[in-house]
This record gives sequence, structure tokens and C-alpha cells, in this order.
Amino acid sequence: MGTITLINNETGQKFDFDLIDCTRGSKAINFSKLFETTGIFSYDPGYGSTAGCESTISYIDGKKGELLYKGIPIENLVDKYCFTDVCQLLINDKLPQNSIESLEFDLELRHRSFLHEKLTRVFDVFPDNAHPMATLSALVSVLATLYADHKDMDDDDDYQTMARRIIAKTPTMVAYCYRNSVGASFIEPDVSKNYIENFLYMLRSYPHGKLKFGIKGQEEISKVEVEALDKIFTLHADHGQNASTTTVRNVASTGVHPYAAISSGINALWGPSHGGANEKVLSQLREIHDIKNVNTFIERAKDKNDPFRLMGFGHRVYKNYDPRAKTLKKLKDDLNKKGIRMDTRLSDIAEKVEEIALNDPYFIERGLYPNVDFYSGIILSALKIPTELFTPIFVIGRMPGWCAQLIEHNKNPYARITRPRQVYLGK
Ligand code: CMC
Repeated sequence: MGTITLINNETGQKFDFDLIDCTRGSKAINFSKLFETTGIFSYDPGYGSTAGCESTISYIDGKKGELLYKGIPIENLVDKYCFTDVCQLLINDKLPQNSIESLEFDLELRHRSFLHEKLTRVFDVFPDNAHPMATLSALVSVLATLYADHKDMDDDDDYQTMARRIIAKTPTMVAYCYRNSVGASFIEPDVSKNYIENFLYMLRSYPHGKLKFGIKGQEEISKVEVEALDKIFTLHADHGQNASTTTVRNVASTGVHPYAAISSGINALWGPSHGGANEKVLSQLREIHDIKNVNTFIERAKDKNDPFRLMGFGHRVYKNYDPRAKTLKKLKDDLNKKGIRMDTRLSDIAEKVEEIALNDPYFIERGLYPNVDFYSGIILSALKIPTELFTPIFVIGRMPGWCAQLIEHNKNPYARITRPRQVYLGK
């Protein structure tokens, strides 16, 4: 283990700090005793140079454009495993060893997917057109009252029940939030359907669980759609210490009920700088309207006097192509080939935006590439997912990551309450 010396140029005092060798990526300076030893604290708004925890869950190499869950590249997981397998990897530290283990987990989720009757009554207080993210966060807070025993979790089984319960119920809550916002009756889960099919079924069905009926009979939920949504969830499952995950950990650090911490994470994700960007990308592509207008919007994004930003572009950690965006772009093209009807006008505009931006010195110098949100909206629209559900879809995908991160935090005997300092400039 190396050290680093900090010299106070005002006093000439020298202080040595240990360097931490991370198993992957850059070293870190252990500044946990910085204030105690020097009487000075560090200032790092937005925490761009600060690690707040140790973690073994996901790793991002921003320069290479690489994302690993438990050491496995996401591309391998997307190709070979389904989302519920990835949930097991994150919350249970291992992938299912065979198809029986995979199915058993999915079956458990199906049977846990129902909502407590009292939870469905909470919807009565929400106005029509309530944004599903606001409703969802409120519902998850209510879950903390219905499953109060998760407040004190002693062993692995308690943690697993807590995580499996919320992973199972999130698609049902999301579907209900949407149906409530458009005044449609709730469709209960169907235990004969797997995790993804069930979600699409709860979202799309007419009363009594019938899918759309046409001249050719009942419309089916196709395997292509299920596989595409499954991949989207997997690509969102975890992503280091982003704003919402950090929120979950910070709130958990006070010792609250885990679902209260996750509800806070949902609120943090909603913002357009974070998970809310997927909704904004689509409205921005619609606003650009025509491929011939792309240059004008690129110029606006570069203009420092214009608050306009290219949504779905840029990332704090990636200074290369976001590997999730790369996989999604390929998925978009595959779906197109497989006959899933896509808004080709918006897709062409998106590709033009990418082409111009990636060749423009402004974007090159700042390392601004498409992020996960850039192509996800076009795909989700093609899967007939309403725009206001794009960020709730992110929630479903991120739920195993939040659970894993919360469990990791709670099990760490050295974890402390989050309590940063401030650079005080007041009177
Ligand atoms: N369009 C135009 N300029 C940009 C953009 C953009 N999308 N993103 C960053 N920049 C510029 C920024 O103005 C700054 O320029 P300068 O150095 O001249 O001041 C430089 O690039 C660095 O940007 P920053 O704001 O310091 O970067 P950050 O790490 O604080 O912010 C970000 C990261 C994702 C919030 C930002 O890139 C952004 O607002 N992007 C658009 C929203 C978006 O797509 N969010 C989804 C993120 S991925 C999903 C998730 O995991 O949350």
C-alpha cells in the first residue's frame, strides 16, 4: 500500500495518507482521517473526486466505456441471462446454476407480485394525470408501513425477503400507477406469466385481463418484445454510486426502513439530469422534428448563453461511448429488422444528432457521448410503453441494484451515517 504526502504551503506541515488499491481502476487516497489529522476538510461539490463507500457490486471504466456487474461485462449478461437471473446475481451474489434455479426465482417473484389490498386504496388520493414517478415513490413509502418488520433485518433470509418482495411488486406498482393516471381499472398479476410478460400484460390488458382484440383475434405479447424489455431492465440494473443509489445509501445510513430509503432513491432518479432524461430525450427529438433542424439544436447545445442541453448525452463517469447505449442502439436496429414498428423519423433524427455531435470538437473535447437514455426512449415507444413510464421502467431495472447496495451498506459494520461538511461563506 503506497502513501501520498499533503503539504500545507502556509505552514510547511506535511501529512501522509494511505493510498487504497482498488481491485480495478484508479487508486484512492484514504482521507477518512483528513480532518482529524490536519484540521482541514476537502471540498468536492458533486463528489466528482470522492468515493463515499467501498463496493463490490458494479464497476465502470469510464475511459474504456465498460460496465461490469460482479465482474461480468454487461454485454455477456444481456446475451446469456435474463433480468431475473441478473437480480439474483446482484442481491444474492450468484447467477442461477441451471434453468430450474432460474425458474424457481422467477416463480417466487410471480407469487410475490400482488399488492396488499390497502395499497391499492392509496391510489384514491392521487389526482388524474399524477406523474407515475411521484405515485411510485409514495407507494414504496406505504410499503414500509405494510412490511414494518423489514426495519430490523438480522440475517440473509430477512434481506432476501425484503429485496425479493420489492423487486416482485415494482412492475405491478408501475402498471397500477400508469392505469390510475389514465383512469383504467387495475389488472392483477397473472402467475402463469413470467416477470416481463406479466408487466406488459398488466399494462396493456383491457378489463378482465383481455389483450386488445382485432379482426385476427387477440393481440399477443410477442417473444421479441419480452426479450427487448428484459435486456433494457438488465442494462439499468446497477451503475456504481450514481445520484439515486447514493441517495438510497445516504438515507439508509440513518437506519430507516429500507423501503423508505428506496422511495428516496426513486425521487432522486426522477430528475432530468438523471433517470428523467429518457423522457426528455423523446420530447427533444420530437421538438427537433426534422433531420434538417439537427444542426440548429447542436449549435444551441454548444451555446453557453442557452440553457439547452442535448438530453441523453454526456456522463459524469463515461468519457467514451456508454456501453449501455451501444447495446441499446444495436437492440433498436435488431427490433427494426424483426418487424417491431419504430418511429423511423425520430430514430433517423437521433442517429443524425449522434453523427454530428461525435464529429464536433465541442463534444469531442468534453468526451460527450450518447448515454443509456439516448436510444432507450425510441425502443420503449416501439414497445408501446407510454412516455411517462420511461423513468418508472428505469426504476424496475434499477431495483435489484438499489437493494444490493442497501444490503451492502447495512451489512458493513464500519458504515457510518452520511454527514458531509460545508464550505461556509455566510455571515
Ligand atoms: N449537452 C451539452 N453540453 C453538455 C452536455 C450536454 N448534454 N453535458 C455536458 N455538457 C458540457 C457542460 O456544459 C460542460 O461544459 P464546460 O466544460 O464548457 O462548462 C461539460 O460538458 C461538462 O459537463 P458537466 O455538466 O460538468 O458534467 P456533469 O458530470 O456534472 O454532468 C450530466 C453529467 C449527465 C448531468 C450532463 O452531461 C447532462 O446534463 N446531460 C444531459 C442529461 C442526461 O442525459 N442525463 C442522463 C445521464 S445517464 C443516466 C443516468 O445514469 O443518470
